[in-house]
Amino acid sequence: MKKLMIINGPNLNLLGKREPDIYGKLSFEDFLGQLRTEFVTVELDYFQSNIEGELIDKLQEAGFSYDGIILNAAAYTHTSVGIGDAVKAIEAPVVEVHISNTFSREEFRHQSYISPNASGVILGFGLRSYSLAIQSFL
Ligand code: DQA
Repeated sequence: MKKLMIINGPNLNLLGKREPDIYGKLSFEDFLGQLRTEFVTVELDYFQSNIEGELIDKLQEAGFSYDGIILNAAAYTHTSVGIGDAVKAIEAPVVEVHISNTFSREEFRHQSYISPNASGVILGFGLRSYSLAIQSFL
């Protein structure tokens, strides 16, 4: 059984309530239930934090024991050299995901410190971006 870890960054704990026109009306917890039903052959673990260092700690911890990591670093995508370095430092392949199409939004969202070290990037498909990322590991 494949072991995958989903890591979500800041403000993604507010999914369902936050800017629903961009991010949708479903909470991540409810969506995770759907993912687990859809991918019964995958062990899916989930971590969310609003704190940069906690995201780095989780990447380091999961990065040597999971088959893959699905990372939505949210706003830290565009600012965090530390998270980018952590993605580079670990063994597990990391797929970068975003719910929205960051390239159709403000200029500052076009920059990613994750992409250069990600094994792939999936964005703009709403929460389906996570399903597509899981499929990429299968
Ligand atoms: C996001 C896009 C980021 O620019 C933004 O800061 C987020 C969410 C997305 O999933 O579309 O918080 O990562």
